[in-house]
Amino acid sequence: MALEDPQWALVQADPEKRSFRVHRSAYKSQEIFEREKALIFGKCWLYLGHGSELNKKGDFVTRRVGGRDIIFIRDKSGEIGAFFNTCTHRGAKVCRERNGNARNFSCPYHGWVFSSEGKLVTTNANGGYGEDLNADGHLDLRRVPRLENYRNFYFINYNPNAISLHDYLAGARDAIDAVCDQAETEQVILSGEHSYSIRANYKLLVENSYDGYHLVSVHASYFDHLRDQFAGTPAASMIDDTIASYNTRGAARGLGMGHAVLDSYVPTGRPVAQWLPSMGAHLKAPIEARRAQLIARYGEERADYIADTQKNLVIFPNLVINDIMSITVRYIEPEAPDFIKVTAWAMGPAEESEELRAMRLDQFVSFLGPAGFGSPDDIEMLEICQDAAQHTPVEWSELSKGMDWTDDPRTLSSAPDNELQMQAYWTQWDRVIRGIEKLERE
Ligand code: FES
Ligand SMILES: [Fe+2]
Repeated sequence: MALEDPQWALVQADPEKRSFRVHRSAYKSQEIFEREKALIFGKCWLYLGHGSELNKKGDFVTRRVGGRDIIFIRDKSGEIGAFFNTCTHRGAKVCRERNGNARNFSCPYHGWVFSSEGKLVTTNANGGYGEDLNADGHLDLRRVPRLENYRNFYFINYNPNAISLHDYLAGARDAIDAVCDQAETEQVILSGEHSYSIRANYKLLVENSYDGYHLVSVHASYFDHLRDQFAGTPAASMIDDTIASYNTRGAARGLGMGHAVLDSYVPTGRPVAQWLPSMGAHLKAPIEARRAQLIARYGEERADYIADTQKNLVIFPNLVINDIMSITVRYIEPEAPDFIKVTAWAMGPAEESEELRAMRLDQFVSFLGPAGFGSPDDIEMLEICQDAAQHTPVEWSELSKGMDWTDDPRTLSSAPDNELQMQAYWTQWDRVIRGIEKLERE
C-alpha cells in the first residue's frame, strides 16, 4: 500500500457530513506498524524518563523506547545522557538491569568496559588490536542523536535533524507547567512502577486515556465506590450532580502538534489541592493550606485550574500524564500492532507531607493501578476493540463526536465528552505517517 496515495488515506475527515473516521488497518496492520516505527517513532520526540529517577551520579535505568533499547544515566560528572544499550564490539546488551547505580558497564560477552559517559575504557584483550583502535571514539557507546528535557521530563529523538523539544511540545508545555507548578520544590517520580501489558494497539490506549465519553459507561463501579465514600457527608449528591453536568464544564483542548488535554471535573479530591469531606477532617487544613499557597503564587484563576481540574494529557505519540485524583506518568511502548507494554509511575511534590503522600499513593493505586477501579475495566475495553478489529470485516471506526470544525482540529477545543482530542491526534498521525509533517529543522 502506498500511503502517499490519497485513495489510501486511513484518516478521513468530511466536515460537510460531520464525519471523522479511521481505517481499522491502522490498529492492526504490520505494514503500517513498520511505517509508524520509521516515521512516528523515528521522528517524534519520545519520552525517556524523568530526571528525578537519576538522583545520584551513576544512577541509570534501561528502557525500550520506540523499539530501541536505551540506557538513561547520570554520569560521573552529573550530566544526564542516553545511549543505545548495545556493545560496539559484537552487539551484546551491555546492561541487563532495569535500574541501578554503576560506575562502568562491563559487557558480559568479551569484557569490553564502558564508562558512565559511554567511553570505551578497555577491551580486556590480550593483544590483537592496534593502539589507535578507538582513537576517534567510534567504539564508544553510541549516543541517542537527541536528548532534551522540559522541566525535568526527558525526551529523545532518533532524528538528528528534528525540531527542538520546546517547539515540538507546543501547547503541551503549559499543561506540563500546570503539573510542575503544584510543587513548591519540584515534582518527582515516586519509587516503584507499575508495568503491565495489553493485547491492543497503542493508539487504543491513547484514545482511552483522555476519553471523557466512556467515563460513566465503563467506570460505573468507581462512581458507586465514590457514592459510598460520600454517603452521609454534605457532598452526598455531588457524584450524581457531576455526572449530570459533566459535559458542561471543562473542555477537550488541542494543544498543537497532535497533543491534547481533557480538562474535566470529577470530585475525587486531590492532594494538591482539593479537599472533600470524604477525605477526612484531618486532611482539610493541610490541603487548604496548599491551595492558599497556589493562590499566592499564581493568582486565583490559575490556582483554581491547577487545583480543581482533572487533566488527562496526551503528548503525541505515546506519553500520557494523568493529573486526576493523583498524578500518573504513563508510557506506552508498542511491541507489535496488537501488543503494548505499559509503564506507569506515580508523581508527587518532593516536599509533600507523609499523610498527603499516603493519600496520593492510595488514590494512585485504587483507580490507576493495574488492579484498581479504573485500569482493568479500561483494558478490557481495549482488548475487545482490538479483537473485533482483527476478527470482523468492518473497516472503519467512527470518531466524529463533536465534529463541527471545517479546518484543522489540532488547536481547537470542544466539550469534554466529545472526540476532538482524538481528531487532533489522528490528524497529526495522518500527517506524520504520510510524510506531510516532517518535524525537521529547515
Ligand atoms: S560483544 Fe561486547 S565485548 Fe564482545
Ligand atoms: Fe477509563
